[in-house]
Amino acid sequence: GKAEAELDSKKLGRRLVFFPVPLQGHINPVIQLANVFHSKGFSITIIHTEFNSLDQSKYPDFTFHLIPDGLLEHEVSTSDVTVLLAKLNINCANPLRQCLDRLLQDKGEPVACLITDTIWYFTQELADSFNLPRIAFRTTSICSFLAFYSLPIFRKLGYLPKQDSQLEVEVPEFPPLRVKDIPAIKSRDPENVFSLISCMMEKTKAASGLIFNSFEELEQQELTKVGEEFRIPTFAIGPLHKYFPASSSSLMEQDRSAICWLDKQAPKSVIYVSFGSIAEMDETQLSEVAWGIANSLQPFLWVVRPGLVQNSSGLENLLPNGFLEAVNGRGYIVNWAPQQEVLAHPAVGAFWTHSGWNSTLESICEGVPMICSPFFGDQLVNSRFANDVWKIGLRLEEGLKKGEIERAIKRLMDEKESEEIRMRVSSYKEKINACVKEGGSSHQSVQSFIDYILSI
Ligand code: UDX
Repeated sequence: GKAEAELDSKKLGRRLVFFPVPLQGHINPVIQLANVFHSKGFSITIIHTEFNSLDQSKYPDFTFHLIPDGLLEHEVSTSDVTVLLAKLNINCANPLRQCLDRLLQDKGEPVACLITDTIWYFTQELADSFNLPRIAFRTTSICSFLAFYSLPIFRKLGYLPKQDSQLEVEVPEFPPLRVKDIPAIKSRDPENVFSLISCMMEKTKAASGLIFNSFEELEQQELTKVGEEFRIPTFAIGPLHKYFPASSSSLMEQDRSAICWLDKQAPKSVIYVSFGSIAEMDETQLSEVAWGIANSLQPFLWVVRPGLVQNSSGLENLLPNGFLEAVNGRGYIVNWAPQQEVLAHPAVGAFWTHSGWNSTLESICEGVPMICSPFFGDQLVNSRFANDVWKIGLRLEEGLKKGEIERAIKRLMDEKESEEIRMRVSSYKEKINACVKEGGSSHQSVQSFIDYILSI
């Protein structure tokens, strides 16, 4: 119809090739980015791995190539995520080379560039060998990217490995971080974490450009700093889910009964609780979370993902004794929720999150204030910035402890006590609405990126 004709007239005759990191928090922004560029007239090819492969039938406009990832059955786990990513960086090199080789010999539209996650450091050399520009895509915040970039300095200064007695100490080289906020990732191979990050930074510097799923009004200073340090064209074009919803690329089925339950709740009365797709906790922590929620006396929607507690045998055995009686029908628990819609629902008053970047952006977009419980990596930095810099969330400073949880929920759900936080998050919401519109900062960055890519 008309829309197709419009798109036809926009066709640029150029193809963009994407290779997402096969984790939910990375797949979502890649699919959104691909959709943005498709709407601007590019043809899209997505190369994906067998692990967390995408459902091609959901994206009839894109061309897909599946490559083997060489993971053995026992290696398919996100429990030690840096070990998994390091392995994939090695295993995918040959299959991706073969795939690109075939693709570039195709008679179809010429490929303008390869767009890959900064985590895929191996793709830089590969792109160079094909004389293909590679654009690095960082799916998380700019502030956390800079903190990762500073890891070698943090190590040299003696902040790492973190000492229990130092956790609350401020890091003057990177305000407002405290030692506990340094983006460490637990791994059975700590050296592997450093080498992954340093390869990632080195290869990003060699890339032809760098895209962030963030926006200038939130991270202006950090964007300038990255430009100075990396000296490659840098673009902040988020929040990407403002253009295309995250639900389309959900790897797990979203339980829509959550929305029906929300429909029956009073405006701004519900605390939504979710810790994303890979965070894990033990049974003691789960019990603290449960009692914190119960004791707050607030209605809640809680996502308890399979695998949130490792080796757990179902929800019934996980919930502490007496919990269901205590909450007395005041809450609803699902495996996986339609998160973006949940956050947009009028009944939701606050979001208790692990501060994953997609969750953080989705929450800001709907003007929902947060309680922040970071587990690892970028989440530590995101939650410090949410609390201290953007002042749109309350970071739980004691870890997962029912007393602090209860106090934070009560404080955030209380209209008076949370007034300032709510005002600030609403003001960012407005800024986002403006930045993705014609003339707005992110909208303009998309156009600058397109001009740039067509010029190289
Ligand atoms: C991971 C990292 O943990 C995170 O820190 C990093 O910023 C990105 O990669 P994840 O932990 O899954 O991601 O968190 P997040 O970035 O918040 O992404 C989760 C996505 O899953 C969001 O888009 C969210 O809408 C979606 N989601 C979450 C659901 O669709 N349903 C749910 O119940 C929970």
